[in-house]
Amino acid sequence: MILVTGATGTTGSEVVKQLLDMGEKVRAMSRRDTAIHGVEVVKADFDDPESLGRAVDGVTAVYLVTAPAKPIVDHDVALVEAAKTAGVQRIVKLSAISGDEPGSWHLRSEQPTRDSGLGWTILRPGTFASNMMRYAPMIKAGIPLQNWTKGGAVGVIDPRDIAAVAVRALTTDEHSGREYVLTGPELMTFTQQVAVLELVLGTRIATEEGSIDAAREAMLNHGMHPDSADEAVAGMTRLAEGKYAVLTEHVAQILGRAPIDFTTWANDHRAAFR
Ligand SMILES: NC(=O)c1ccc[n+]([C@@H]2O[C@H](COP(=O)([O-])OP(=O)(O)OC[C@H]3O[C@@H](n4cnc5c(N)ncnc54)[C@H](OP(=O)(O)O)[C@@H]3O)[C@@H](O)[C@H]2O)c1
Repeated sequence: MILVTGATGTTGSEVVKQLLDMGEKVRAMSRRDTAIHGVEVVKADFDDPESLGRAVDGVTAVYLVTAPAKPIVDHDVALVEAAKTAGVQRIVKLSAISGDEPGSWHLRSEQPTRDSGLGWTILRPGTFASNMMRYAPMIKAGIPLQNWTKGGAVGVIDPRDIAAVAVRALTTDEHSGREYVLTGPELMTFTQQVAVLELVLGTRIATEEGSIDAAREAMLNHGMHPDSADEAVAGMTRLAEGKYAVLTEHVAQILGRAPIDFTTWANDHRAAFR
């Protein structure tokens, strides 16, 4: 049995799908009453240790996604403790490309998994292609998109590729003790992603440069915790400075095929922008 946390989220939902396609037994974790076809769903919360005990019971491997409302490592600690007690063998932890940044939440949140004494794999993806979904309402309404990362480029990755790597790490021992920076096939700025969307949708999308201060303000207005907004702003600043402009071969090496490019992602999701 493989436990997928964040099973209703961007990568977790893909991990569930791909594990099911392989015929694996899957338990999906959510705080909500939710049904996922072919899957045992466990209602559990990282803030509720008892519920985590139920989630990991009888499980051999865990896909660990934490995205706390504020940058704390308690959720990672709680899951890892429950996993150790239950005799889980391996944890595949979703982190981020910023995970090598000293003091960053992602680096701190990796630590409980690394220190667990269990088999572990750390995945550090670049920007998700699916982040562009956030702009769908604005694109539909013709509102200019704010470019907060200027000319900073990153190896934009399709969440389906992150999930595919996670599935390999969950179902074999080959990736134990490894951390992988995961990227798509090309470095892309925000403007380049928008240009691809324009081509795919056949529509003009206006952008304007937005200040980092305005970005932080917008996040706070959306109810984000100030510590989380600071963390996000620090990440965007590093991206804008070109610190994440790296491409790696891990996706191709692990999956035996090229990573999915942004044009393919955009074509596969064009309906969401219409
Ligand atoms: N977006 C990017 O470009 C990017 C890049 C690199 C790394 N990342 C990292 O990827 C991770 C996932 O981010 P995301 O935005 O894609 O989120 P997501 O996986 O789409 O959604 C978060 C998931 O966490 C679950 N969850 C939230 N609070 C929980 C709690 N207290 N207990 C149990 N489950 C809880 C939610 O499930 P329910 O609501 O069903 O309970 C949901 O499925 C984050 O750590 C993020 O920093 C993102």
